[in-house]
Amino acid sequence: MLEDFRNKSIAPKSNYKVGAVIHTNLGNKYGGFNIEFDKIEHTLHAEQTSYINFLMNKSVGEYPTSIDVSAAPCGHCRQFLSSLGGSDMLVNFGDDSVLLSELLPHPFGGCSGDVFIEDMVIDFNMDDPIEYTDYMMGKSINKFTKFKGGCVIETYDETLHGGFFIENDAFNPSINPVVMAMCNLYL
Ligand code: THU
Ligand code: ZN
Repeated sequence: MLEDFRNKSIAPKSNYKVGAVIHTNLGNKYGGFNIEFDKIEHTLHAEQTSYINFLMNKSVGEYPTSIDVSAAPCGHCRQFLSSLGGSDMLVNFGDDSVLLSELLPHPFGGCSGDVFIEDMVIDFNMDDPIEYTDYMMGKSINKFTKFKGGCVIETYDETLHGGFFIENDAFNPSINPVVMAMCNLYL
């Protein structure tokens, strides 16, 4: 599964494919891959894409227990996951299997994700783009700024791909609603 997601990578700038798969307490798996944009600072790392996949599809009470990654996660992803991932998770890459709290022993802001993500559920069976944008905006993860943002991209086949603002304790790396909607378009 990890290799399947790595192969979906959209990396026209680096040609470097990364795959990630989040495993949860309910036994589900959510995959992701890196997505590069012309503005490379908007690049989504595979760990973030799999996290978005998890957020979009999770059930009440579901949280990540481990993540498989095709390469060691960078510092930015360690901060992102420890701030948003909930309880500690095992990170598997190559022959290594290390707790996130060991990869990043002193995360900025501590580990606070479990407070708000565990009960989060996203309904994506909406067909009105404006209503869906409002709905997604309301899902924003914004503990500090309270800033809300929503975006919906409609494709020619009338499918809606939504995104909202995902704030990290350290602000960077946060994810803006447009980038999240693009991610859902590619997932
Ligand atoms: N990349 C990831 O997907 N995860 C990481 O933690 C490190 C880097 C991606 C970003 C970019 O598309 C490519 O790898 C080269 O940096
Ligand atoms: Zn990263």
